[in-house]
Parts: sequence; C-alpha cells; structure tokens
Amino acid sequence: MSVSDPAPIASEFESPSLEAQAAAVKSAFAEAFGAAPQWVVAAPGRVNLIGEHTDYNDGFVFPLAIERYVVMAAGRPASPAAEDAVRARSTMMDGTAEFRLGNLEPERRDWTSYLRGALAGCLERGMNPGAFDVLVDSKVPLGGGLSSSAALEVCTATLVEAITGRSLEPVEKARLCQTAEHVYAGVPCGIMDQFSSALGAAGQLLLIDCRTETATLVPLDDPNIEVLVINSNVKHELSGGEYAERRSQCEAAAKIMGVKKLRDVTSDQLAAARDKMDDVIYRRAHHVVGEDERTTAAAAALQTGDWETVGRLMYASHDSLRDDFEVSCPELDVLVELAGEVGAAGGVIGSRMTGGGFGGCTVTLVRKGREREIAEAICRRYRERTGIEATPFVTKPARGAHIIEG
Ligand code: GLA
Repeated sequence: MSVSDPAPIASEFESPSLEAQAAAVKSAFAEAFGAAPQWVVAAPGRVNLIGEHTDYNDGFVFPLAIERYVVMAAGRPASPAAEDAVRARSTMMDGTAEFRLGNLEPERRDWTSYLRGALAGCLERGMNPGAFDVLVDSKVPLGGGLSSSAALEVCTATLVEAITGRSLEPVEKARLCQTAEHVYAGVPCGIMDQFSSALGAAGQLLLIDCRTETATLVPLDDPNIEVLVINSNVKHELSGGEYAERRSQCEAAAKIMGVKKLRDVTSDQLAAARDKMDDVIYRRAHHVVGEDERTTAAAAALQTGDWETVGRLMYASHDSLRDDFEVSCPELDVLVELAGEVGAAGGVIGSRMTGGGFGGCTVTLVRKGREREIAEAICRRYRERTGIEATPFVTKPARGAHIIEG
C-alpha cells in the first residue's frame, strides 16, 4: 500500500494542552455556577499496548495513560440545597444532574453513574466531601475503548482527595473505582483501566501484574517511536453482555483446569487438557494463556529496543483476539490490516485492537516522523473500504490522575 496522496486529518492529532483544558473548565465552572472553582483535578484515559482480556484472569497487561484527560472543576455552593447535595454539569451535555451523597442510587444509570460510584467508594472509606458543585469536561473519546469511564471514576476520587485533603493509596483508589464500574455501571471489568488512570506516569508504560496489583514502570524513551491511536468510530452494541460472557468462559476454563485463574496455566498444560473442554472454551483459554506470554515477552523486547519482536507480538495478539477470543470486529480488522500493509518499510512496527473490543480503537507503533502520513493513509483507505471516517491521534505515556489546584 502506498502512503502518498494522503487525506487531510481532522483536528487534535497532537495532544491537547492540559493547561488550556483546565483553564477552559475553570471559566465554564464560573459561568455555570457563578463563582470561581476551589478545586481542579484531572485523570487520563489509557491505551493498552498489549495484554487484552488478561486482567480479570490475574494476568499481565501493558498499558499507558494517554495525554487525553477528564478534568473536573469544583467548588462549595454558596447555599446548598442540603449539606450532602451535589450538582454536576458536563461540557458535553445540557442540564444539571443532581444527587445526594446520602442516597447515591446505584441503580440509576446516567453519566453521573461513574461519579456516584466513585463517591460511594470514598464515603465507605470515611472520605466525605460534603456538598459541592462540579463541572466535568473530557477529552477522552466516549465509548472509544480508551477508558473514558475509568477516567471519570478516578477523576472523581481525585476530586474527593482534593476536597477532603486526604490521599488514597493509589492502588486502593483504582480498586474503589473498579468497584464503582461493577456496581454503578454494571460492567464486571478488571483492574487495568482504573489502575492506568490512577498510576500512569509520564514517559512510562505500566507492566501490571493483575494478581499482585503491582506495576513495573517501563520507559518508552526511544525518540524514534510514536504511539498512534486510531478510533474506528464504531461501537457494536453487543459489548456489554459479551464482556461478561467472555469472563465466565475464562472462569469455566480455569475450573476445568483445576486452577484459580487462567494465569496459573501454561500453554503446554492447556494443550494437554484440550480434550477436556469444548472448542469455544478452549479457544478463549488459548487466547488468555498465549496473551500473557506475549505481554511479558513484549515488555522484555521493548526494553531492549527489539521492535521487530514487539510488532510481531502485537499482530499475534490481534489475530488471537479476532479468532480465538472473538472480540474484534470487521472495522478493527481492516485498520490492523491496513497498518500491516504499510508495514515495516512504511514505518509501521505493529498494530492491534486495544481495549475490550467490538469497536473502539487500534494501537499502532510507528517510526517517529512518519506518524502523520501513516495515519492519513490508513484513514483514507479505511474510509474507502468501510465508508467510515476514523479519528487518529498520537500520544506519549502521560501522567496519571492528579490535583491541579486546591
Ligand atoms: C475493558 C475492561 C478492562 C479489560 C479490557 C480488556 O477495558 O474495563 O478491565 O478487561 O476491557 O483487556
């Protein structure tokens, strides 16, 4: 495939400035609530380089926080409706949502579910922010598989830290946000997304051992490498139930193998037990066991600058998610295929779907300096093949959640 004759790229290919976003959110708060905010906090989305659907199997994941943040500005209302009243507004939606800290309504499903869930976790830990007004803005594409919901949860917990002046231990913070997702959003997710948003570090990938809930920082400091994220801009609706189904299929496989989690199984053990399970369960387990091996191998290869190996493992991960785990979709497959067609000669190191699947984004490692032409070429061909406009952007590993003011 040729990378000449590129189509022009829409806005925000480069990372937006967090400073400018925070300033805009502060003035939007003042306009909405009639006073300057007292606290401003931020939490990023994430992209996973490799290690998909391994987190809830106690395995390994290798994500980075991205330079796309949820920012919240908050302040005490002059005369609150009640001492536990919260008023929340979003730059992405009209209207004001209201709720009480004393009645967080786990069953209520709206955009404040993530806020209410995280607040519930903070209250359980004795961190009561009292009445506040909050204005929320997000540069993490919604529903794009980049953990927009985890960023909202982690940002909320960070806001409570700012308001109460108490800090949560970061892993504990990730855990309480994961519980928020389970209970208030109804998604039985693993720990990766909330962990990445809470513990992300500038310039570093996180090799997370999801059993011990510990992360090894791996620098992504090769000046010749860029992380390119391409949003397919499709989201297939089956994602909710399919995620839970994959999770229980993995649990079924672990049970047949007589272990706690698939983390405890090697490829050889799985191959030897193939006759004990039906084909679907076997293929699900085959993905997870292989993906754990690929993830630790990719982290090792990345540290020695063995990009060829990293790239090969990324493509293998995608194939496995498509064929064995069956969480890809035609649009993601097209994006990965097109990246492969540009290939090493065109500056592409490797590419794969990222996140839960059934739509969302791909992650592609590319040679520095070629990122724009590669993105343009892939998006143009994607449009020709699918009729859909994809949205590409580049990112460096970003700093995790933090207090900007207050
Ligand atoms: C979603 C979940 C994560 C993880 C990924 C798949 O993003 O929230 O916990 O399971 O899917 O790797």
